[in-house]
Amino acid sequence: MFVVLEGIDGCGKTTQARRLVEEFEKRGREVLHLHEPGGTVLGEKLRSLILTPDANVEIHSRAEALLYSAARAELVRTVLEPALEDGKWIVCERYYYSTLAYQGYGLGEDPGLLHSLSAYATQMLKPKRVLLLDVDPERALNRVGKNLDRIESRGPEYMHRVREGYHLLSRREPERFRIVDATKSVDEVSAQVMEHMADVLS
Ligand SMILES: Nc1ncnc2c1ncn2[C@@H]1O[C@H](COP(=O)(O)OP(=O)(O)OP(=O)(O)O)[C@@H](O)[C@H]1O
Ligand SMILES: [Mg+2]
Repeated sequence: MFVVLEGIDGCGKTTQARRLVEEFEKRGREVLHLHEPGGTVLGEKLRSLILTPDANVEIHSRAEALLYSAARAELVRTVLEPALEDGKWIVCERYYYSTLAYQGYGLGEDPGLLHSLSAYATQMLKPKRVLLLDVDPERALNRVGKNLDRIESRGPEYMHRVREGYHLLSRREPERFRIVDATKSVDEVSAQVMEHMADVLS
């Protein structure tokens, strides 16, 4: 089982991933909780490079898409594939849908090329389910607080485009995507998440 949590910054991915891992463990599964970019030595270095605001490091949107994809390629090859082969269950915060939404819809990079890049990085490995935690950017950025990373600093207008991008992606793959109302309390969101997992868990 490979499940991905997606959504704009501050929507509740980390919170809900932890809940989901607990639920799976209760069912006796061995679960790996991963986040993107990261989950490997290279990935964590790239994460820090991409997300830490640093006036001396300029990253153009194309380079940004490639850096995320490099981290993803490493994660897929060295962690995801072996874990799935071992029968482990995986809960991953973000996957290539983030690249399509953030660098594609958000920054205007070519969606077709980003699809090809993502296919190359993931070798077409797709999750069973994508849970899209949907919340308005104002509320989400409010949750994040004051210490914004480089991406969060792009502000609410950018996040609106990213959110819209996620909605378009979800309409393209209705069997894989489920939209979760993430404006609700942590418990209520968690209950929705489990409902949206019911068919793939049975
Ligand atoms: N349903 C909720 N209602 C209110 N606050 C929430 C909810 N879910 C998470 N939070 C709080 O909002 C903040 C952001 O949540 P979380 O870190 O889970 O989001 P995230 O999507 O992982 O963010 P990021 O994209 O920055 O990693 C945290 O302080 C968390 O406790
Ligand atoms: Mg998080």
